[in-house]
Amino acid sequence: MDRIKKLCAYLPRCTTFADVGCDHGYCAQYMLKNNLCGEAVISDISAKSLSKAEALLKEYISSGKCTPVCCFGLEKIDPSINLVLIAGMGGEEIVSILKSAYIPQNFVLQPMRNVRAVREYLLDAGAQIYCDDLFESGGKYYFVLCGRRSGGSREYTPARLEFGFGDLSGALGGYLNAELAKKREYLTRNLAPKTRAEINKSIKFIEEFLHGEIV
Ligand SMILES: C[S@@+](CC[C@H](N)C(=O)[O-])C[C@H]1O[C@@H](n2cnc3c(N)ncnc32)[C@H](O)[C@@H]1O
Repeated sequence: MDRIKKLCAYLPRCTTFADVGCDHGYCAQYMLKNNLCGEAVISDISAKSLSKAEALLKEYISSGKCTPVCCFGLEKIDPSINLVLIAGMGGEEIVSILKSAYIPQNFVLQPMRNVRAVREYLLDAGAQIYCDDLFESGGKYYFVLCGRRSGGSREYTPARLEFGFGDLSGALGGYLNAELAKKREYLTRNLAPKTRAEINKSIKFIEEFLHGEIV
């Protein structure tokens, strides 16, 4: 629940909200309960997952404030929806959802991995990423991208494409140091020379970024 609480803190007030890949439905519950949206759509590709959110939000559904939809990504989500959350999926899956439909008016994305692929897709499409942050929960780090369909973004260097714009003296520093520790531990194993060289290159990249030698 700590991850959900921290993730929900990134959700701005909106008129209509869609939680794509809602599973349990806690994020839509947060929006509705706190009057942060007028109406919510909960959607999931899995009818079984969606049924969990339907049970949680049954009162909002019967009052017409919440609509459940079983579909792939944004397939049945109206593009006029004000804010879309897509969280807890791999970055490639999120890109595939956006590619096969549209970039929502306003979005909060929380990819579990391959965040770089999501950044690249959004930037190539001319979207605006106004917040590219990360938070820690239970010893793991979660990246969050908040943005708008258009407007363009600040410049992304190779390091920012990889790590975003989190706080180097906070969560981003914690994440990078945890990555360094993981990679150094990996180097103690019996590795193929090519793998060893790739890990050393990646360690050097992180160290240079941490020491401000690259931005
Ligand atoms: C790990 S859960 C994350 C639930 C919630 N969004 C969260 O962040 O805690 C991922 C959910 O996304 C759903 N899902 C995966 N791929 C999907 C897609 N292409 N379209 C819609 N839902 C999808 C899964 O069925 C599952 O319920």
